[in-house]
Amino acid sequence: MVINESLRLYPPATLLPRMTFQDIKLGDLHIPKGLSIWIPVLQIHHDKELWGNDANEFNPERFSSKSFTSSRFLPFGAGPRNCIGQTFAIMEAKIILAMLLSQFRITISSTYRHSPMVVLTIKPKHGIQVFLEPLH
Ligand code: HEM
Repeated sequence: MVINESLRLYPPATLLPRMTFQDIKLGDLHIPKGLSIWIPVLQIHHDKELWGNDANEFNPERFSSKSFTSSRFLPFGAGPRNCIGQTFAIMEAKIILAMLLSQFRITISSTYRHSPMVVLTIKPKHGIQVFLEPLH
C-alpha cells in the first residue's frame, strides 16, 4: 500500500507515449491514424475527480482493497506494452523496505525540502536527507 501510494503521487514515468497505426473510434471520439498521443500519468494520478479531495495527500489506505486494479493507476503503464519488470520492481522495493525497517529507525532531516521535479523521470530536486538510527 505504501509503495503503491508512493508510485501514485510520484510515478517515475510521468507521461506515456502512444501512436495510432489505424483509425480508431472510441465512443464518440474519432482518433485518426498516425496521431501521437501522450497519456498524462502524473495528472491522472493527482485528479480529484478520480481519487477524491485528498488526491494530493499521502494516504496508503486508499489501496487497502485487495482487489484494487484500476485504469486510473498507471505507474507501470497499461495494456499489451506495459512494464515487463513490474513484479520484479515491486518485490525488490518490498525487500529493501523490509530490510531497512527491520534494522533502522528512519527520520527525515529538517534540511529536507520537498521539491519533486520532472526530468524525463520524476526526482527529488534536492535529494532526500534521512537519519538512519540502528535499532539493535
Ligand atoms: C519502479 C520501477 C519501474 C517503473 C515505475 C517502470 C515503469 C515502466 C513504464 C511506465 C513502462 C511503459 C509502459 C507502457 O507504455 O504502457 C515500462 C516499460 C518497460 N519496463 Fe519498466 N518500470 C520499472 C522497472 C522495470 C524493471 C526492473 C524492468 C526490467 C527488469 C523493466 C522493464 C521494462 C521493459 C522491458 C519495458 C518495455 C515493455 C514493452 O514495451 O513491451 N521495468 N516500465
